[in-house]
Amino acid sequence: MKFLLLILLFCFLVPTFCLTGKFWQFTDQHYDWIYKYKSEPHSGECRKGEGDAGFYGDYNCDIPWLTVASAIEEMSIIEPNVDFVINSGDTWPHATGSAEEKLQTIANVTNLIRKYFPNTPVFYSPGNHDFEPKHDCAPGANTWLAQMAQAISPILNTEQKKTYLQGGYYSQVIGGIRVVIMNTVLYYRSNKYTSSASGDLSNQYAWITSQIDEAYENDEKVLFVGHVPPGHAERFGFNNFHDQYTDPFMKVFEEHPHKEIILASLYGHLHSDSFRLTENAGPLLLSPSLTPWKNYHSSLGVPNNLGMGRLFSYDKQDQTLLKYEQYYADLQTCNENLKLKWQLEYDSSQEPFYMEDLSLISYEKLYIKMKNDEKMFSDYLNFNILKYKADSCDSDCRTRQFCAIKFLHTDDYDICKIIQDY
Ligand SMILES: *[C@@H]1O[C@H](CO)[C@@H](O)[C@H](O)[C@H]1NC(C)=O
Repeated sequence: MKFLLLILLFCFLVPTFCLTGKFWQFTDQHYDWIYKYKSEPHSGECRKGEGDAGFYGDYNCDIPWLTVASAIEEMSIIEPNVDFVINSGDTWPHATGSAEEKLQTIANVTNLIRKYFPNTPVFYSPGNHDFEPKHDCAPGANTWLAQMAQAISPILNTEQKKTYLQGGYYSQVIGGIRVVIMNTVLYYRSNKYTSSASGDLSNQYAWITSQIDEAYENDEKVLFVGHVPPGHAERFGFNNFHDQYTDPFMKVFEEHPHKEIILASLYGHLHSDSFRLTENAGPLLLSPSLTPWKNYHSSLGVPNNLGMGRLFSYDKQDQTLLKYEQYYADLQTCNENLKLKWQLEYDSSQEPFYMEDLSLISYEKLYIKMKNDEKMFSDYLNFNILKYKADSCDSDCRTRQFCAIKFLHTDDYDICKIIQDY
């Protein structure tokens, strides 16, 4: 009783402490269970030979278990009292292995989050590498979804499992926020099962619509989570979805009569720190990856440092997303010192962005500032790959960045690139 009174008194004196909720997002672990220290980095994997593969991971490869474990442990040290934790997918490495091992990596990482956050809801949105074969998620109920549901069973309740089995999606309401986990691998550009399909795959559009409807009726706000974001990759220029899905997918949000209750949509996949503007349906926030892996399939491939995680703060009264803190580690220094040093990279409410909150309006303002202020744009580029040595950004690079941020719809993006008007 005394303790409660003390808390009440404390809340009265420092209201932000009690009125601010928090949650973690981390993504794209690409954990390689066969990673070998001092092996020879070879086409994206460090598994054999003698070479200079680092202790905690390598810019040319993925990362060993100890790096994944350390990142999750550190999240629980920096802020254990969060309302939920999001893993937005791609647990599996870029190297190969069996289906059984793939399910083990998903289960092992899920169990580890459970261990460090024993009483916290944990969400997982499936990544393209988490399907077997990779990228290929078949529409509708299928055996792989059932096996994945088994692998993440410690974090999935009976109700959630029902919709997960139908298409890899589910939701939960926490403190007035409806967290809606989507399966956007259905639309992924490399998904062979859906390249020539169309329509509402796995009835996901209808389900998303009903989630916004229900949230509106219950006076909640909606936070979407997915792995592959719609729109284009800001560094590489390609469409993340098969072309036919981008516009219909965006319309599910942008044409909903209650789209104003959408707080934001959180994604991973591109291994980059960026954002996207929508037509009044909340901003899309792209979280950088834990793995430093360089994209070998693109001439514009660059590695990044280790993105530990992103700690969001929100207002518990009206659910406004207030800010996030992005944490990272400089891989080269860590490997040289044989010590993992996680640190704050930046806080969205502080230098250099000074964002008032994470609303769409604040992101629209940031976009304009970045366009007019070279220093602000170069700060963004620096964070885009977690302070890895960024190359200079020529006018094509600049156009790709700004067009991708502003235009999610394919035609608008193509026009933006041609006339370079963003
Ligand atoms: C997963 O964890 C189990 C139990 O610790 C271990 O035996 C197995 O090798 C791990 N598998 C992978 C792929 O990490």
